Amino acid sequence: MRTQIAAANWKMNKTLQEGTQLLNDILSSDIDPSTTQKVIFAVPFPYLTVSNDVIKGRANIHIAAQNCHHKISGAYTGEVSVDMLDSIDIKYCIIGHSERRELFDESNQVIAEKLNLCLGKGLTPIFCCGEALSIREAGTQNDYVENQLNESLFHLNKVEIQKIVIAYEPIWAIGTGKTATSEQAQEMHAHLRNVLAKQYGSDIANNISILYGGSVKGSNAVELFGQPDVDGGLVGGASLIPSEFVQIIKALK
Ligand code: 13P
Repeated sequence: MRTQIAAANWKMNKTLQEGTQLLNDILSSDIDPSTTQKVIFAVPFPYLTVSNDVIKGRANIHIAAQNCHHKISGAYTGEVSVDMLDSIDIKYCIIGHSERRELFDESNQVIAEKLNLCLGKGLTPIFCCGEALSIREAGTQNDYVENQLNESLFHLNKVEIQKIVIAYEPIWAIGTGKTATSEQAQEMHAHLRNVLAKQYGSDIANNISILYGGSVKGSNAVELFGQPDVDGGLVGGASLIPSEFVQIIKALK
């Protein structure tokens, strides 16, 4: 069974006190992720160390960074390197979120460099892909997302690709309350798995977790995660509300 993952992306929300409270509220509920499940909290950079302490000793629960820089080190004021994340024991990092692509001009090539650095340090990248509304309306979303994988992932070898988690996040569904239907999610996830199978073989493709992101809520998670190729979710808004995120965790297969 592929690992099923509920990943929270807090984005630029919560103070340290509010974030710690949120983590504690979720951890003190009756969640108990099994060995084939993972719960990941992508928190703002300043809270990584404290959050790692809060989850210490909890099986299958991890803290992630939301981004890293694509250079190893140097004169990049305000940026955070993969080495820095590694040095504070962070094992996961979101890479190529659509907000970073759109607002900070991240290209598929820059994203590929970030992936390489993460893999080099043993961090698991959560690689995000997904199309804008105009692409969905033109009906070219499958080719568009395939190209994102092609340009950012397909230089990886068969061992490396299995260390990646993929998150399909259609931009038109992010923060809009407009969730992709479970059929739309399944259709794209199956396409992505086919694309991975063509490149790496179906055994490898079947091992890679592909998460859905975009207005996942407690009320739609069971339906979305119930799709055969949907291996959990990357959750923004609903991950900031303890009862919602607990419900989402419980919806994992
Ligand atoms: P929402 O769940 O708020 O739509 O955000 C999704 C997302 O961007 C997670 O990375």
